[in-house]
Amino acid sequence: MDATRGNAPDPQRAQREMALMRAYPTAMDLRARARRRMPRFAFEYMDGGAGDDTGIRRNWNALDAVELAPRYGRVVSPPACGVTLFGKSYAAPTGVSPIGGPGTAYPGAETYLARAAQAHRIPYTLGVLSGVDVETAAAMAPDVLWFQLYRFHRDNHRIGLDLARRAAAAGAQALVLTIDTPIRTVRPRETKSGIVNPFKLTMKLRLDALTSPWWLAAMLRNGIPRFASLTPYMKPSPTIAEAAEFIRRESGGAFTWDEIARYREVWRGPLILKGVLHPSDARKALALGVDGLFVTNHGGRQIEALPAPIDALPAIAREVAGKAALIFDSGVRNGVDVARAIALGADAAFAGKAFLWSLGALGPEGPGHLMRVLTEDLRATLGQLGCFNVGDLRGVARRHPGAWSAGEYATGIDKDFGLPD
Ligand SMILES: Cc1cc2nc3c(=O)[nH]c(=O)nc-3n(C[C@H](O)[C@H](O)[C@H](O)COP(=O)(O)O)c2cc1C
Repeated sequence: MDATRGNAPDPQRAQREMALMRAYPTAMDLRARARRRMPRFAFEYMDGGAGDDTGIRRNWNALDAVELAPRYGRVVSPPACGVTLFGKSYAAPTGVSPIGGPGTAYPGAETYLARAAQAHRIPYTLGVLSGVDVETAAAMAPDVLWFQLYRFHRDNHRIGLDLARRAAAAGAQALVLTIDTPIRTVRPRETKSGIVNPFKLTMKLRLDALTSPWWLAAMLRNGIPRFASLTPYMKPSPTIAEAAEFIRRESGGAFTWDEIARYREVWRGPLILKGVLHPSDARKALALGVDGLFVTNHGGRQIEALPAPIDALPAIAREVAGKAALIFDSGVRNGVDVARAIALGADAAFAGKAFLWSLGALGPEGPGHLMRVLTEDLRATLGQLGCFNVGDLRGVARRHPGAWSAGEYATGIDKDFGLPD
């Protein structure tokens, strides 16, 4: 499957890949190395959750609690990992979730993520708050680029709608609207590491960066990250503080259903809502003609009380009943987690933090290594379970103690947002 190899075998590269597999066989190994190698503030930014990280732990524990029962005596050849999403085929049912400021993990991150995703043929969702613009990312990852938007709503969505238009012109395969950031959240680990809001390169952060020459050298090579997709709308050469102030002024809140309907009119390609955890929201999204839902709790970064998305997934899958693609994320560390999510109704399972750990641990080599880890682990999982392909996972017997039931959802107030149910 490894598309990075091209036609001719490259023994040196194969050797290096094997060495990485031996040294860092899991995402958690990458996390441990990233923690040692990165400036503290950068690690705390990418790794920390809301509150005391309860949400992050819940995501992991809920995935770990899902058991899948194998059937033996069936698979004799390596199972196939390919998948079709929105009519496009990808090499594996996994991908990169959108990340704002991934260059914090390793400067230049977007380039390494885009190139690895293109080489491995898995989706890369470029976050709008990224260091390369959507046009450049699309040129690096023409077959696999998705684009994520926050709500840039000032002046009747002047910037947001223009970004959607630019993403379409650049050839992005899907537009992702994030709805799970209605207000700013507090992440104590971030705060304690010295990160201030709006972001400022304080003396404390500068001194912290000096503790990691490896990271600092990459920063000097790549320059201080800018929000490249947004530069056409800002004054020339803004400082970090000015860029942060611009974003604070121009964006904020979560898309309303009316606004989503407007984006649906403008964006003709696959439209995905990111942040759905309630079947009623899934139903409203379907009524608006949305093509896909990201079932996610933002990786436990917004508020720690949210359900683990894996526990919300079955009820949402029942509601959606195949009428939209379901992309799962939050807590994915390995191919077994990908398999669990697909068994419970997802079409693919993406990762956010694990890709940042890979960058923080291995720099440019990180994303490709993690893609190999996830895909090979998924292949092994399929084989262990007796599946010939990804689709077979839906038929695997499973036990899922944490699943939300329809009755539990019915205990809340089902707010009517003025849309047909
Ligand atoms: C450092 C960081 C920045 C993120 N920035 C964004 C963002 O700009 N837009 C967005 O929709 N989600 C963002 N997310 C959430 C991810 O897209 C994804 O939902 C989450 O990381 C999945 O959980 P996981 O980290 O456990 O895989 C961010 C996550 C992290 C860790």
